[in-house]
Amino acid sequence: MTQDSYSIIPLREFVTSMTKLVEQTNEESILIKETATHLLKLISKDNWLPDFCTIPHPEFYQQYLLHADPLERFSVVSFVWGPGQKTPMHDHCTWGLIGMLRGAEKGQRFKYNAAGKLAIDGPETMMKPGDIETVSPSIGDIHIVSNAFSDKTSISIHVYGANIGAVKRHVYIQETGEVKNFVSGYSSTQVPNLWDRSSEVRSQLN
Ligand code: FE2
Repeated sequence: MTQDSYSIIPLREFVTSMTKLVEQTNEESILIKETATHLLKLISKDNWLPDFCTIPHPEFYQQYLLHADPLERFSVVSFVWGPGQKTPMHDHCTWGLIGMLRGAEKGQRFKYNAAGKLAIDGPETMMKPGDIETVSPSIGDIHIVSNAFSDKTSISIHVYGANIGAVKRHVYIQETGEVKNFVSGYSSTQVPNLWDRSSEVRSQLN
């Protein structure tokens, strides 16, 4: 997609809707339900993600920040999965929604069993464009995610209930039960410019 062929408007509208939402409530169940509605609308079309937020890395999956709320009540991230790339087993320590935009993604959830060991929680899932999944400490927060394709890039749009690049969270080593602290960070110093509305306003000039 060329720089000229996308419109940032759907992302700006999503950010505006999310900002209104976090102003209205901090109740997780409502935030998840309403975010799902907004995210479904955002990923229903694949014509708005700037090119620089779609670039894979040969070795590592990429996390491009699309927007962080100034009060860190939510963040929006473009996850770009190169062929065959996958996460370690990890958690989020906040609520989060994953919306599939391009390609496909596999997910496997884990939880602690009665013996205190990490065990598979349900079947592996396959997300296709338009699909949404939810994570949170209250409903299941530990998973492994991977690109379902070994020969092409996949992209998912993630929304979290915090600035996810500043959240202390964990990776899990299933074989040993070891839990390590980590902070995920972002893959670029740039964020999309949501705010150049000049052509729209100019068109309304007399
Ligand atoms: Fe995750």
